[in-house]
Amino acid sequence: MVRESSFEEEEQDDKYLKKLNPHLDNLVRENIDKRRIRKTDDSKKFSVIESVFDERTIFQLEKLIKQGLIERILGIISSGKEANVYLAYNQKGEEIAIKIYKIDRNTSRWMMNYIRGDPRFKKIPRNISKIIYLWASKEYKNLKRAYKVDLNVPKPIHVRNNILIMEYIGFGSIPAPKLKNISNPKDLSALSAKILKFIKKLYQDADLVHGDLSEFNILYHNQQPVIIDISQAVSTQHPKAEVFLVRDIKNVYQYFENFDINLPSAEKFYYEIIDI
Ligand SMILES: Nc1ncnc2c1ncn2[C@@H]1O[C@H](COP(=O)(O)OP(=O)(O)OP(=O)(O)O)[C@@H](O)[C@H]1O
Ligand SMILES: [Mg+2]
Repeated sequence: MVRESSFEEEEQDDKYLKKLNPHLDNLVRENIDKRRIRKTDDSKKFSVIESVFDERTIFQLEKLIKQGLIERILGIISSGKEANVYLAYNQKGEEIAIKIYKIDRNTSRWMMNYIRGDPRFKKIPRNISKIIYLWASKEYKNLKRAYKVDLNVPKPIHVRNNILIMEYIGFGSIPAPKLKNISNPKDLSALSAKILKFIKKLYQDADLVHGDLSEFNILYHNQQPVIIDISQAVSTQHPKAEVFLVRDIKNVYQYFENFDINLPSAEKFYYEIIDI
């Protein structure tokens, strides 16, 4: 569900983007926006830049610019219900991805299901924005854990309040496509083996369960799967960890069912992961 922002809000966001980006490269931005617009209907054409740029977020973005972590924001890659993802440059001129979570009451309620019961989060805030900040830092921490054990996830760079900076997956201004949008992925047995290995290693070496793994959250880059959107991942100690693990396995098996490919039995794979 994409919240439609008012014209004034969009105009304000646009102004802020331009302020952050005196040299905003319209061409590149247009390119990315077009990809995004294709996903929405005409009535939403003007909600390309969603209203995540509230004053606090702008203040924090300005700090990140001063710190040199962000040099300029090129444009939006994706606008989802919880967050927007932007393509930007750092001071070295390297591409980075910035995920900005929206401060939203309903989202914060839903997030609590994943935060409660995770032994890593003992003190749970009541304030909506603090819950969202906790969520962004949760994604950062999960990325760090996964990256540390050599899993194929974007390298986490920085987190500040509701803003997460990570490695950008893509070539130039073209972000990597989701596996969902690839009609003919190459070498399916190697691809499936890599994704299954990801699930197992994430559980056994990083002590995490992704919790929303599917072809929608796997980017296909250089013919390799890169797993994203790891914010809801829970510790293997979480009371629902096994339920989420089963769901992840099911989603991945369902995706590969569309192709003529042999996979180990899902049940066997599950027991192999939890190692009993
Ligand atoms: N590091 C990255 N590099 C390139 N593109 C990215 C990166 N992270 C996210 N994206 C793009 O942004 C989209 C949304 O990111 P993500 O799945 O993390 O957020 P989300 O809020 O869950 O959005 P959605 O509801 O669309 O899944 C991805 O599907 C992908 O196209
Ligand atoms: Mg996603």
